[in-house]
Amino acid sequence: MSMLCRATARGLLVAQRPRLLQSAARGLSAGAKYEYILVERKGEGNSVGLIQLNRPKALNALCDGLMLELNKALELFEADSGVGAIVITGNERAFAAGADIKEMQNRTFAECFGGNFLSHWNRVAQTKKPVIAAVNGFALGGGCELAMMCDIIYAGEKAQFGQPEIALGTIPGAGGTQRLTRAVGKSLAMEMVLTGDRISAQQAKEAGLVSKVCPPDQLLGEAVKLGEKISRHSKLVISMAKEAVNAAFELSLAEGNRLEKRFFHATFATDDRKEGMSAFVEKRKATFTDQ
Ligand code: HXC
Repeated sequence: MSMLCRATARGLLVAQRPRLLQSAARGLSAGAKYEYILVERKGEGNSVGLIQLNRPKALNALCDGLMLELNKALELFEADSGVGAIVITGNERAFAAGADIKEMQNRTFAECFGGNFLSHWNRVAQTKKPVIAAVNGFALGGGCELAMMCDIIYAGEKAQFGQPEIALGTIPGAGGTQRLTRAVGKSLAMEMVLTGDRISAQQAKEAGLVSKVCPPDQLLGEAVKLGEKISRHSKLVISMAKEAVNAAFELSLAEGNRLEKRFFHATFATDDRKEGMSAFVEKRKATFTDQ
C-alpha cells in the first residue's frame, strides 16, 4: 500500500534555522509533512517514489517553499533503498507555470547575485536515482526547466512547454537556455527563448524533448510503469548508467567514451553484474541485490 505524507510547511521553514534543524529533519523522515507537495510510494513493491507538486491555485508556481520541500523529498527518496526511481508530476492543468513571479517581483540585482538566488534549484539534476517527469498542462519557464532536469519526460497530449521569461523582461535561469538547446537543437530553442512561444506535447516529442505522449489520464500510470521497470534492475548499476548518459552533455566524445568504459569495467566489481550474467547463462531470472 502506498504511504501518503502530507502536512505543514512550518517544519520545512524551521528546518532552515540551524537550531531546530535536527528536530525538523527527524519529523520529515518519520512520516513527513509538506504544504506544497504530496509524497507517495507507488508501483510494484512500492519501488517508485512519487512527488506531486500541489499548489493548484497558482498553477504549481515554484515558490521557495515548494522547491525546499521538493529537495527534501528527493533527499529522502535517495536515502531509501526501496526506491528505484522517482516520478515528479503536477496536475492536469499544470506541471508548473514557472518560478513564482510574485515572489520574484521586488527582488534586486544585489539580492539575487549576493544571495545566489535560486542556486538550490539544481537539486533534481544532482539526484543519483532516475527521475521521470510526468507533464500534464503547462510546463513553463522554471516548470519546463524542472522537467528538463529530470532524466526522462513523458507528456500528456495537452501538455505545453515554453520558456516565456522574455515577456517578463528576463531570461531562463535554471538551465532553460542550455538543456532546451541540447534537447531540441538551436533553431527551435532559440525561437522558444526569444519569442516565449510554447510548443505542444506532440512538437516536443518530435523535437526529442519528450519520449512518450499519452492521454492525460493515463500519463501518471505510464510514468509509474516506467519507474517500476527501471526499479527491477540493479539500483547500483542503474545509477552508473544514468551518470554515463548524463556525461554525454558535459564531455567530449573521447572523454565520455573513456568514462563509459571505466563504469563498464566497474560493473565487473559488482555482485549484480555476476548475477545478471549467471542468470542469463542458467536461463533464469536475475535477482539483484544492489551490491
Ligand atoms: C506566480 C502564477 C504563475 C507564476 C500562474 N500564476 N503562473 N503565480 N508565478 N509563474 C497564478 C496566477 O497569478 C493566478 O493567480 C493563477 O496562477 C492562475 O493563473 P491565470 O493566469 O489566471 O491562468 P490562465 O489565464 O489560465 O493562464 C495560465 C498561464 C499564465 C498562461 C500559465 O498563468 C502565465 O502566463 N503564467 C506565467 C508563466 C510564466 O511566465 N512563467 C515563467 C516565470 S519566470 P491569481 O491569484 O493571480 O488569480 C521563471 C524563471 C525561472 O520561471 C528561473 C529559475 C531560476
